[in-house]
Amino acid sequence: MSLISLRRAVNSSLEAARFRFDRWFRPDPQFAYLPDKQLAELRFWQGEIKKMTRWYEGEMPEYYGISSPTDDMKETAFDLRQNAIRTWIPFMMKRYLNSLQVGPDYFSGCRILDVGCGPLPLLHAFEDVECFGVDQLTKEYRAIGFPLDSYDPPVNYLVGSAEKIPTDDDTFDAIVSVNAIDHVDDFGEAAMEILRILKPGGKLRMQIHYHHATRCEPWQLDDQMIAHHFGGAGLKKIDEQEVPGRSDERLTLWTN
Ligand SMILES: C[S@@+](CC[C@H](N)C(=O)[O-])C[C@H]1O[C@@H](n2cnc3c(N)ncnc32)[C@H](O)[C@@H]1O
Repeated sequence: MSLISLRRAVNSSLEAARFRFDRWFRPDPQFAYLPDKQLAELRFWQGEIKKMTRWYEGEMPEYYGISSPTDDMKETAFDLRQNAIRTWIPFMMKRYLNSLQVGPDYFSGCRILDVGCGPLPLLHAFEDVECFGVDQLTKEYRAIGFPLDSYDPPVNYLVGSAEKIPTDDDTFDAIVSVNAIDHVDDFGEAAMEILRILKPGGKLRMQIHYHHATRCEPWQLDDQMIAHHFGGAGLKKIDEQEVPGRSDERLTLWTN
């Protein structure tokens, strides 16, 4: 076992122990109904809100390499938490374009769905699109303070999951997914749903993270699995990069 794998195994055991401890001794009754994977994901985002707020207030000089904002960059029209979230969003939108390696006009005119969209309106990175998102935690993201219903322009959140997307066949001109398809419960079903609701000739573009399976990322994906499930849609890998500091992980980019 390499040193990196050993360090990851130790970190992951510590994280699992911490998660169990919290679940038993510091339960959050509001979210007790969530399965472990979803609760862990939600805890991650609760932590992110705290970090965004400290970054916004200048208590954390950098957040994911971005310096804390100067006063003229800060959103100030809302309460502290929302101001912090809304100030952070434009930085994440830039990262979204980088992750998908396209410009803001790439999907112009499209009705577009983000699968595993998370709590931020990252489709706003694209010009002239009608935005839809599906994520199995949208209700909980609202509950912890993300302003999902007041993003402008609005994101239409479909209530469901990647495995069961509540919409007709051939609904979307384009579908994207960033760092999410390895998080789903059933990769094969999610792939079938995506292909079902994408219009014939529609654009599909996904950034897919390769790694060992973890609690929130149960799918250890590889080229064969992606090609097997999405090959019919003509999906091809167009980029693969090492994850900085994690030589056993890869970020891959797929498109049709
Ligand atoms: C790492 S986050 C990425 C969020 C967003 N794409 C981004 O880049 O910020 C992964 C997201 O996938 C969502 N997710 C996990 N399993 C899912 C499923 N079965 N159906 C829909 N969304 C799911 C999680 O709730 C989480 O919001």
